[in-house]
Amino acid sequence: MARNKIALIGSGQIGGTLAHLAGLKELGDIVLFDIAEGMPQGKALDLAESSPVDGFDSGLSGTNTYEGIAGSDVVIVTAGVPRKPGMSRDDLLEINLKVMEQVGAGIKKYAPDAFVICITNPLDAMVWALQKFSGLPANKVVGMAGVLDSARFRYFLAEEFKVSVEDVTAFVLGGHGDTMVPLTRYSTVAGVPLTDLVKMGWLTAERLEEIVQRTRDGGAEIVGLLKTGSAFYAPAASAIQMAESYLKDKKRVLPCAAYLDGQYGQKDMYVGVPTVIGENGIERIIEIDLNSDEKAMFDKSVASVNGLVDACKKIQPALA
Ligand code: APR
Repeated sequence: MARNKIALIGSGQIGGTLAHLAGLKELGDIVLFDIAEGMPQGKALDLAESSPVDGFDSGLSGTNTYEGIAGSDVVIVTAGVPRKPGMSRDDLLEINLKVMEQVGAGIKKYAPDAFVICITNPLDAMVWALQKFSGLPANKVVGMAGVLDSARFRYFLAEEFKVSVEDVTAFVLGGHGDTMVPLTRYSTVAGVPLTDLVKMGWLTAERLEEIVQRTRDGGAEIVGLLKTGSAFYAPAASAIQMAESYLKDKKRVLPCAAYLDGQYGQKDMYVGVPTVIGENGIERIIEIDLNSDEKAMFDKSVASVNGLVDACKKIQPALA
């Protein structure tokens, strides 16, 4: 049986980490693409030279032309510019929208059957634009944000309670930005909701709110520490989990920026919701019950994403 082919559009910090993880997990052959000449080729060769040590068989190559991604089963997009300290994800909009136009055209021509995962920020607006530019079915184009935001929430909670990260589940909905909605009612330690843990005295409501806010600011915290770029290990791990669920038809339930066509009362937009990812891409969007507070937070997040989408339409009228 032929190996799967995974194309990484953008071979920077996240792209390189994606290639490493995809190799270690033997998800398939990997093509790194970038506009920087030599860089994807260099990273591919370096990673290939690690494969005898780690014992994985994955073809690794680098390219500067879209022909190289032909026939890919999965395409993960990180092309664009990352944040610098003091910048919000939204500040990247204009530059990265132009990048999405080029990337969308490349995918349309050479990898129209792929499952496409977008990581480029501002995420919800960029994945919306990428779907339009590529013309791929909406169930095959998805944004990575919820897995990362939930992982940050899970890590902070596990640290707080001194329990294994494996026993903490968390749900973060909404846009990938300051208005994201960590759902405490649906986040648990071994099945016990955080709201019950507050009642049980494991933490105060105020402390929980601090952790929620740290989750919202999770990306900015890393940018502030790194100073020269944004997070890359956890974003890459999160996208690989989504790619693996697709390639192995695992049907994992993962929060992702998915195309809404009426769900949650929204149309023609991408925002973070719980999904099922299997061989058909986004196979299901799970509509969970939101109480009035949660709904208010979700609506605020939707409004913020819609503002960015409107800005995209102004810059590129073909998207309107
Ligand atoms: N086509 C292909 N690649 C491009 C293009 C383009 N038009 N423009 C830029 N790139 C490449 C850059 O050459 C660079 O190698 O995209 C890569 C981005 O890598 P980094 O700058 O290291 O950024 P990274 O940390 O990987 O983040 C990428 O993901 O999380 C988001 O906000 C982040 O939007 C950013 C993206």
